[in-house]
Amino acid sequence: MFSDLPTHPADKILALMQIFREDPRTDKIDLGVGVYKDATGHTPIMRAIKAAEKQLWEVEDTKTYVALAGAPEFNDAMVALVLGDAVARDKVASIATPGGTGAVRLGFDLARMANPDVTVWVSNPTWGNHVSILNYLQIKNRPYRYFEPATGTVDFDGMIADLNGAAPGDVVLLHGCCHNPTGANLTADQWQAVIDTLLAKGLIPMIDIAYQGFGDGLEEDAAAVRLVASSVPETIIAASCSKNFGVYRERTGILMAVAQDGGLKTLNQGNLNFLNRQTYSFPPDHGARLVSMVLTDPALRADWEAELEQVRTGMLDLRQQLAAELQRLTNSDRFDFIGRHRGMFSMLGITPAQVDTLRNDHGIYVIGDSRMNVAGLNAQTVPILAAAVAKVTTGD
Ligand SMILES: Cc1ncc(COP(=O)(O)O)c(C=O)c1O
Repeated sequence: MFSDLPTHPADKILALMQIFREDPRTDKIDLGVGVYKDATGHTPIMRAIKAAEKQLWEVEDTKTYVALAGAPEFNDAMVALVLGDAVARDKVASIATPGGTGAVRLGFDLARMANPDVTVWVSNPTWGNHVSILNYLQIKNRPYRYFEPATGTVDFDGMIADLNGAAPGDVVLLHGCCHNPTGANLTADQWQAVIDTLLAKGLIPMIDIAYQGFGDGLEEDAAAVRLVASSVPETIIAASCSKNFGVYRERTGILMAVAQDGGLKTLNQGNLNFLNRQTYSFPPDHGARLVSMVLTDPALRADWEAELEQVRTGMLDLRQQLAAELQRLTNSDRFDFIGRHRGMFSMLGITPAQVDTLRNDHGIYVIGDSRMNVAGLNAQTVPILAAAVAKVTTGD
């Protein structure tokens, strides 16, 4: 039997991590994997999470199962964090999931359960795992234009033209903020135009939000999700706590089904619970409990928000420094978009051959599509990266 198993292409990002580990150069720079790192290259446990963990150790007196949907406190706190008061709580069904990936996977399952013939439209490019999971589930998927590599901006006309070609009932996967991998995001006016298209064509948005608080701020980053979820009849939302709470390995996320017709909540909740039950039964609780403790304790929450804000502004500073340095070295505004992008990533818009040269000649690792993790930089490595990018793109 096992010999009949298919082989799978290695995940590009994980494969690059391996090559990086094996690279003997001591001055190598990892801008590949999507994990936040501080100036020393460390991925810290956030102070509030550590404090919550200590408290939890003291008070937790059982490890019995919680609930199929996960702890209600977690669901309530996360729905409030993502949706604010844009949508009444009784319109939102939700389940805790193992990470944002779990939420994405079950969100696709939910769409297919409602519509076995569904087509999911994904931005070109998008987080590689989106397409990979859709293909694995044998869910039809189509790309919509999104990114203009030459200018580092959103190809908005292309995006709307492609979405106008979608059929009623199709699902459109959107990144709530901090688009991965490009770093290029829609403006408020563009989000409104997307909503108009969704409404005109009868399309269902599924929003993946994995970086709330990494872009323009906690509230600002949720603005688009809130606008969409309050404007259209039905929205699927997959949110990850991995990055903004730094709980990557705890596997903490949430899947929401928002229906303006509140009568659908019970049906939606039953289906979400069913999906959890069929997939792994009870979702992990530890990370979710830490997150809900942080969100509901005013002191922990204030400290978390302060630390998250430092993380966000630190990445913004690195962006500004890199854009300025590249402007100086290339004597052009070609890379100014890096300062306008938001989140942990930017696509440099350089060729695969130039990406290889960055790695081979300079020990700088970015993903093959030229996505770099801004958080992998620090004040010392920004000039090194800028010089290398200037060199590979101008040939000087
Ligand atoms: C766009 C996007 N969605 C979802 C995820 C899932 O993250 P996790 O499963 O680690 O919570 C990621 C992580 O890289 C991501 O970039």
